Amino acid sequence: MAAESSESGFLLAIESSCDETAAAVIDRQRRVLSNVVASQFELHTRFGGVVPEMASRAHVQNILPVIDEAIRQAGIRLADLTAIAVATTPGLVGSLLIGLTAAKTLAWSLGVPLVAIDHLQAHIYACQLALWSQSGQAAEQKVQSESIYPCVGMVVSGGHSNLYACASPVDFELLGATTDDAAGEAFDKVAKVLDLGFPGGPAIEKCAKAGRADAFAFPRTFIHEERLDFSFSGLKTAVLYAAHGIQGAKVQPPPLDDARRADLAASFQAAVVDVLIAKAVQALKKTRYSSLCVGGGVAANQAFREKLEQVAQKRGFRLHVAPRELCTDNAAMGGLGWELVEKGRLAPLDLDVSPGLIRTAVPRKS
Ligand code: KG4
Ligand code: ZN
Repeated sequence: MAAESSESGFLLAIESSCDETAAAVIDRQRRVLSNVVASQFELHTRFGGVVPEMASRAHVQNILPVIDEAIRQAGIRLADLTAIAVATTPGLVGSLLIGLTAAKTLAWSLGVPLVAIDHLQAHIYACQLALWSQSGQAAEQKVQSESIYPCVGMVVSGGHSNLYACASPVDFELLGATTDDAAGEAFDKVAKVLDLGFPGGPAIEKCAKAGRADAFAFPRTFIHEERLDFSFSGLKTAVLYAAHGIQGAKVQPPPLDDARRADLAASFQAAVVDVLIAKAVQALKKTRYSSLCVGGGVAANQAFREKLEQVAQKRGFRLHVAPRELCTDNAAMGGLGWELVEKGRLAPLDLDVSPGLIRTAVPRKS
């Protein structure tokens, strides 16, 4: 095993949980030295969503060039690596396995430790990396100070809309999650309904700029309920009916022109943003934590970011939203691996993936 100094070292993080093949090098001071992402969106765009088997095959093609590029851009050699971190949960089984196989092979052949990353914890850790990168402090002091933890962590992505009580970077307690579609999934499906293409989030955001957020009164499911869960499938159906009408109904909506499309996009986006923020505020009250950290693809949405800022100012809580480039899937956030290395929480070489999505059940009405 390579000799480890407590001050220096280079971590290679690998991310392949869905449709992005990514690798990054992060040094022990948590500086991101390289952050390479090969997106597959062109591959999946004609299907209007990620096709798991195609994603796995593309990962096989991309993984080695992406790792090579991350090492090259960081200006190091493979032999300089201290540890390998890899996202093993949650995600698509085939996709996760490609990253894990590459990570195990490297860890074994270089004789360095392997650590397993929870992709959702990593989305929140992106806020921590951003805070440290803005800090003017000397590198060695950064890691000890300016922690974003404890905090309420909100992950809003294509697969999840989860709220956590985060005691530390690797101690997460689930407070609530979506019961059906995730927020990003709703953006993607509504974009399809409005013929806006894939991925839907950025397309809806762009289209919504020309629309009125109050043009349609779309549902804000669970907003007045105590539970910290989400449900976006009713909202998606409401947009579908408003856009294309209900089959067989006497009254049908007017044709879907650009103005109407923009109003629908803006009203939909406002409904998602309202619910996400209301639940995050509830989670802060429940945990009595005073900071909120938000990550995941949907956190790239400008309307969401602006409203979060307004609400944080009004209510007086600390807000950390991942920088846009670290919201969507990337491996830099796998810098979380350093926390595991330093705690000695290493993974064995027979490590497996834990695929699947985190959902909460809808309680039965008695
Ligand atoms: O975190 P991410 O890259 O992948 C998962 O872990 O799922 O999130 C991808 C999701 C997609 O559903 C995409 O439509 C959404 O994030 N997204 C956005 C925006 N950019 C990406 N949603 C709303 N507004 C955006 N600007
Ligand atoms: Zn993600």
